[in-house]
Amino acid sequence: MTRTIHVHAEHEYEVVIGCDWQATLKHSLDSYTRVALVYSSAMRDQIKEFKPDNTEIHYFEVSDGEGAKTSQSLQSLWNWLGAAGFTRSDAVVGIGGGTITDLAGFAAASWLRGIDWIAIPTTVAGMVDAAIGGKTGINSDYGKNLIGAFHSPKRVLIDTSWLTTLGDRDFAAGLAEVVKCGFIVDTQILDLVSGKNLADIRADSVLVQDLITRSVAVKAHVVGSDFKETFGREVLNYGHTLGHAIEIHSKYSLRHGEAVAIGLVFAANLAEVKGLLDLKSVQMHKQILDRLGLPTTYPGQAWQHLYPLLALDKKSRGHQLRFVGLSAIGATLRIEDVNESELALAYERISS
Ligand SMILES: NC(=O)c1ccc[n+]([C@@H]2O[C@H](COP(=O)([O-])OP(=O)(O)OC[C@H]3O[C@@H](n4cnc5c(N)ncnc54)[C@H](O)[C@@H]3O)[C@@H](O)[C@H]2O)c1
Repeated sequence: MTRTIHVHAEHEYEVVIGCDWQATLKHSLDSYTRVALVYSSAMRDQIKEFKPDNTEIHYFEVSDGEGAKTSQSLQSLWNWLGAAGFTRSDAVVGIGGGTITDLAGFAAASWLRGIDWIAIPTTVAGMVDAAIGGKTGINSDYGKNLIGAFHSPKRVLIDTSWLTTLGDRDFAAGLAEVVKCGFIVDTQILDLVSGKNLADIRADSVLVQDLITRSVAVKAHVVGSDFKETFGREVLNYGHTLGHAIEIHSKYSLRHGEAVAIGLVFAANLAEVKGLLDLKSVQMHKQILDRLGLPTTYPGQAWQHLYPLLALDKKSRGHQLRFVGLSAIGATLRIEDVNESELALAYERISS
């Protein structure tokens, strides 16, 4: 069954979940003369099957993974849009994981100061996170996602059949963001995944679609109330403060979702150290994430490197570190008055 969720951002747009991407995309292209399909080599066979009747399609293949989010790929995409004569009545379609939708969205945001784009996410992380919310961008030599723009898509088309070919590691990493949505807002997500491992979830397509729908609803609601990230949207960063530091420390050898999984258990422990959250809720974090096969610990000796990296978090103000925490499952709060020994204690509890 197809479900549609409306996102209210700088314009309203639909996220269509459970659709057949080819059929739905054909109907979404009527108003455009030319369309650029941006995809990675991993998607080549499926993309080349797509042939709408009345729209001129241009196929643009980019490097896989983070290799797509470079200034070089963006430059070639701009040159290629220029050579093909793309105008304001044309559109870009990004088909792939979060790396591809981030690049395609930013190319659309910057070409002629903004043309339409459509996101077709093909990973769990892309479906529940990257394609929703209008953040687009590329990496710079100084860090990930430092160059970008807020530019919401015209539509997001989620066809869960893409997920059959997704590797277990990427699937589980995407589920970390799903579970995060359960901890911060929709606690039914936790009931749905509780006691299940990755294979149980993958085998149940109805459950997968339900989890994706619920997570999209959480993100759509939060983004709709705080598009440009003042405070409301920060709740989506639950688990991300330590998670980002771990990504940098591990030199991106961990998937984003894997680092976030560790960060979620850390954030729960921090709230417990501050006397805000009970121990049972902390244990629940670890149990659910462990069962999904996600990492929940990190080497103890890494703390001396991670602590300075926490200050780079975008939620920091001056010298003050700020964390998203919980006072109960499904109830977020901001943790600001935190000192180094409390942080070290919370980290000790997740140390391997
Ligand atoms: N814009 C945002 O709000 C936002 C939010 C979260 C993450 N992101 C960005 O998203 C990126 C991570 O996204 P990701 O986890 O989707 O990674 P990804 O795009 O690198 O995809 C992971 C891997 O899965 C492969 N893949 C994609 N779809 C597949 C499929 N259906 N079958 C088989 N293989 C498939 C890709 O080729 C790649 O090798 C990061 O760059 C991150 O910064 C952006």
